[in-house]
Amino acid sequence: MNNSLETAKANLPVKGFLDISDYAIPQGEELVQAILDLKKEKNAVILAHYYQPAEIQDIADFLGDSLQLARQAKNTDADMIAFCGVHFMAEAAKILNPTKKVILPDTQAGCSLADGCSGEGLRKMREEHPNALIATYINCNAETKAESDIIVTSSNAETIIESLPEDRPIIFAPDKNLGRYLMKKTGRDMILWDGSCIVHEAFSMERIAKQLADNPDAKLIAHPESEEPVLQLAHFIGSTSALLNFVEKDEGQKFIVATEEGILHEMKKRAPQKTLIPAQVYDESCNCSECFFMKRNTMEKLYLCMKYELPEITIGEELRLKALKPIEKMLELSEAIK
Ligand code: 13P
Ligand code: SF4
Repeated sequence: MNNSLETAKANLPVKGFLDISDYAIPQGEELVQAILDLKKEKNAVILAHYYQPAEIQDIADFLGDSLQLARQAKNTDADMIAFCGVHFMAEAAKILNPTKKVILPDTQAGCSLADGCSGEGLRKMREEHPNALIATYINCNAETKAESDIIVTSSNAETIIESLPEDRPIIFAPDKNLGRYLMKKTGRDMILWDGSCIVHEAFSMERIAKQLADNPDAKLIAHPESEEPVLQLAHFIGSTSALLNFVEKDEGQKFIVATEEGILHEMKKRAPQKTLIPAQVYDESCNCSECFFMKRNTMEKLYLCMKYELPEITIGEELRLKALKPIEKMLELSEAIK
């Protein structure tokens, strides 16, 4: 075993993370303490998304949705941001706060939406619709952001789409399900990019209808990345944070939850007396309601990435400045959203 920084760096380009089998890693409570010690030693902050493994959510300094995490990243005075989420989220943190070192436990923590939409594709759409404004979901890479007029997240998308001038057509990328939902909510016609989330499109309307029939006292709550037939059955549709707030505040006692399962960890903490049932997916044999990308991050990888400060997110300054503009517009327009 050779755990030098040079070996760590050499391992990276191949795997996108430090291979845990190459290193001595503390276990259990010692691992938790080692991460806390590294945090102190390096003046680091741990930011985690609600879809992260439970033990990462528990150790995070701040747990949030993509908008809340972007704000935290922008405003932190820590020297290092250990970002426990997917790549586009860590990249957004670097775009917003370039003087901080941003590390991601596993750079293969991608996203089907981000992977399916390119800057070049958006440029082509702009050529076809030269008068259109491009509103892009934050689930995209920096090149795609740089081609966009404004970025949205699931919690501010409706507000932002409503604020766009009525005389301009809108191109919405990359999630067609969220796009279709927003068209319905805002009454704005939009040209949609043909992308989707592999987790949210896995929910089965037929199986959920059966769950509802078996649990007549339950409400179905769904993220708008879910497909139209699932959304039609839902009692409440909302972003990650909106779903959490709904479960906490609604008088209902039982909820069928159609979004990534990691959120149940925080839901249970906020509403311990309520019954939460994960919505069923088409394929019974898979864990499709867990985001495979989000779950690439583990406590062991978090420990190694904090120890070696690798893998680090980097971005060229020209691209960063282009991608920053539409993110900043989004932050301005959604100041009132928690
Ligand atoms: P939020 O913007 O609600 O955090 O969602 C991010 C995401 O990846 C949903 O699948
Ligand atoms: Fe991307 Fe879907 Fe995973 Fe969210 S749940 S990070 S949209 S693949």
